[in-house]
Amino acid sequence: MPWTSHPVDRITGSISAPGDKSCSHRALIFAALAEGASEITGLLEGEDVLRTGQAMAAMGAEVEQISPGHWRVMGVGKRGLKSPAAELDFGNSGTGSRLIMGVVAGYPITARFTGDASLKKRPMNRILNPLREMGFGDDAGPEGLLPFTLTGSGELKAMDYTLPMASAQVKSAVLLAGLNAKGTTIVHEPRATRDHTERMLRGFGAEVKVVTSPGGARSIAIEGGQTLTALDASIPGDPSSAAFLATAALISPAGDVMIERVMSNSTRDGYFDVLAYFGAELGADEAGEAAGERLIDLQISSPSRLTGADVPERLVPAMIDEFPILAVLASFAHGVTRVTGAGELRVKESDRIDAVIAMLRANGVACEADPEGFTVEGCGGPPPGGGLVETRHDHRIAMSALVMGTAAQNPVQVDDISMIATSYPDFLAHMAELGADIRDT
Ligand code: S3P
Repeated sequence: MPWTSHPVDRITGSISAPGDKSCSHRALIFAALAEGASEITGLLEGEDVLRTGQAMAAMGAEVEQISPGHWRVMGVGKRGLKSPAAELDFGNSGTGSRLIMGVVAGYPITARFTGDASLKKRPMNRILNPLREMGFGDDAGPEGLLPFTLTGSGELKAMDYTLPMASAQVKSAVLLAGLNAKGTTIVHEPRATRDHTERMLRGFGAEVKVVTSPGGARSIAIEGGQTLTALDASIPGDPSSAAFLATAALISPAGDVMIERVMSNSTRDGYFDVLAYFGAELGADEAGEAAGERLIDLQISSPSRLTGADVPERLVPAMIDEFPILAVLASFAHGVTRVTGAGELRVKESDRIDAVIAMLRANGVACEADPEGFTVEGCGGPPPGGGLVETRHDHRIAMSALVMGTAAQNPVQVDDISMIATSYPDFLAHMAELGADIRDT
């Protein structure tokens, strides 16, 4: 059913950022593998994360909600995982499915993996290829698409692997397989990707060595056979979710928003760095730390002028999920915004280059797709709007289009909002608190 975001005069208020999706998946997975009981607070209860919890429970962990956002997980520890009785359905979740493939690889168990229409189109050979070299079996065809069955092994061989693409999911899957392999597994990443796996594994007591070269490349080493120990963890706020609220403030005729407890981590902050090129000034106050991550309270108000910019390629991995909302910001700016070196956008929840172009064109914004990026001609103020956006099962396209509608000349419609619950179930409530007018008419 279509939903419509109507233009409003102001976006103001204060919101506590929802729990980070990447950290929430990892906290549940590592707690489920650990020896003992972990308590997690501030967990993002998005559909993707809940499916990760269900998958780990199906393999023997006890995963229970104590109160909203507060979960208790009794890990399997030395007993190890058992084969799930039914197939594991990961819904829309690339992160849950791919990280858990790495986990299953290291145990002598069998598990069938499946997902929704979007996940069934996403490339899994990027995970299967290194894990096959380490010694597991699978019945995936040459295309490497879900559904398929994995047969893990208690005898995995450690490996030395250089990531062919900048992907934290691939890095994490290989490191998690390495946790149960014989010897030391080393993953080299030419460009640093989000490092929550490395940080949080340390929190759960594993030894993980990281060497960073002056150019920013990283090598991460993990010794096989380590046991994780339970941890009480609080999940930091999600900078990718905060980016939608921040952008709503920036494009509003009168925007003034505070977003509390946002994780500040250089492998995730690319969008907030790029905002400075657009002429936006952000205030940041220290807000403590959670799960080994620094927290800040972000203050954002609408600038007098937004100017388009070329996005530096070095920042692409640190803002890989923020390109749909960047495209919305660019459409309000003066001048041209160019994105290059972002071919990974083609294999997200949708082909995000094509989906972004379709979203902007439906709303009267001139733009062009490139094989590895896109160009947006800014309207130098509110774009026409008035379009119906096809969301293609992609939560970030849906949220971006709804943010655009808050300040475009005419309302913006999306064909579906149900998938927003995969990553940000409180999005509509938070936008309403800030003054947005988003409804089913
Ligand atoms: C994620 C890694 C990124 C990102 C995704 C979450 C993670 O994917 O797009 O939303 O939690 O590791 P890639 O590893 O495919 O870049």
